[in-house]
Amino acid sequence: MHAISQYQEIIKTHFEELQTVKEPKNLYEPIQYILSLGGKRMRPVLTLMTSEIFDVSYEKALHAATAIEVFHNFSLIHDDIMDDAPLRRGNQTVHEKWDLNTGILSGDAMLILAYQFFENYQPHIFQELAKLFSKTALEVCEGQQYDVDFETRDDVTIPEYLKMIEYKTAVLVGAAMKMGAIVAETSEENANLIYDFGLNLGIAFQLQDDYLDAFGDPKTFGKQVGGDIIENKKTYLYLKALEFSNKDEEEQLQHLFSIQPNDNTDKIASVKTIFNSSGASKATQDAIKEYTMKAFETLKIMSISEDKKLILRMFGEKLMNRSV
Ligand code: IPE
Ligand code: IPE
Ligand code: MG
Ligand code: MG
Ligand code: MG
Repeated sequence: MHAISQYQEIIKTHFEELQTVKEPKNLYEPIQYILSLGGKRMRPVLTLMTSEIFDVSYEKALHAATAIEVFHNFSLIHDDIMDDAPLRRGNQTVHEKWDLNTGILSGDAMLILAYQFFENYQPHIFQELAKLFSKTALEVCEGQQYDVDFETRDDVTIPEYLKMIEYKTAVLVGAAMKMGAIVAETSEENANLIYDFGLNLGIAFQLQDDYLDAFGDPKTFGKQVGGDIIENKKTYLYLKALEFSNKDEEEQLQHLFSIQPNDNTDKIASVKTIFNSSGASKATQDAIKEYTMKAFETLKIMSISEDKKLILRMFGEKLMNRSV
């Protein structure tokens, strides 16, 4: 096993060396652009880590890790179109820097590129990876559709929200880890347990993404703070705020989430005040902890050494304390 920082360094170097630009430039340069903006790269790190947890060198998992990260970046390009987001990783989003069509087609190409990385594996591993990948990618689409559908609904429930984030975000974190397990050719039981670990970590991760979208520091967050409020996203913060509010506050919040003002400054400020005063912020923090602990519970029943469990717990703790 390596330290988390070493896996991060390996992935960073690997992506620096990855050549994605050829003709036509307008198709491939946006791909190079989004990948070069980096981000946390937590999914490929998890793939490498998982292969070593099951005693196979990270090198064997590099292609799968690359596939996952390229897919993730594809989903971000399209997500930013769907969310009308101006900023990604502190820089212009692809559709802002180029245009909508560029974002669509470069994104499509990345989805295909992601699949191609699996061709580096033997047929039996290729098949398992591709099968998991197809299932996961389809679930991400389903999650993204729910996310958009919820923008215009006023009766979204917490279980519906949890299912939505499981699909749009958590399944990919689970799959990133399961791919490490598949490459390592460990038992199906191990592969499924590590998937569950990743899934719960992924739910905690998206809850925190929602929290940071409202309360992150605009100087360091890298995305437009308040973007979810502008888009009337039915996040955990919003749903809990409704649940905890009295009739007046509930009506105020529902009104704020039905308007599309030209200047969103006041809307964002008012909504954030209600998120805090209602106790929704606190409830979200509690839920982030709850799902992280649920992930840690899975570790208890896994037959891997204590030092490996410690690294996975450290990764989870690090995610919980992030500000980006
Ligand atoms: C953003 O993912 C999209 C979500 C699923 C919340 P990350 O927060 O992992 O984005 P990067 O790759 O680090 O920029
Ligand atoms: C993104 O969710 C999920 C996918 C990209 C599939 P968000 O829309 O919350 O992600 P950010 O906040 O834009 O990174
Ligand atoms: Mg988004
Ligand atoms: Mg989105
Ligand atoms: Mg978000």
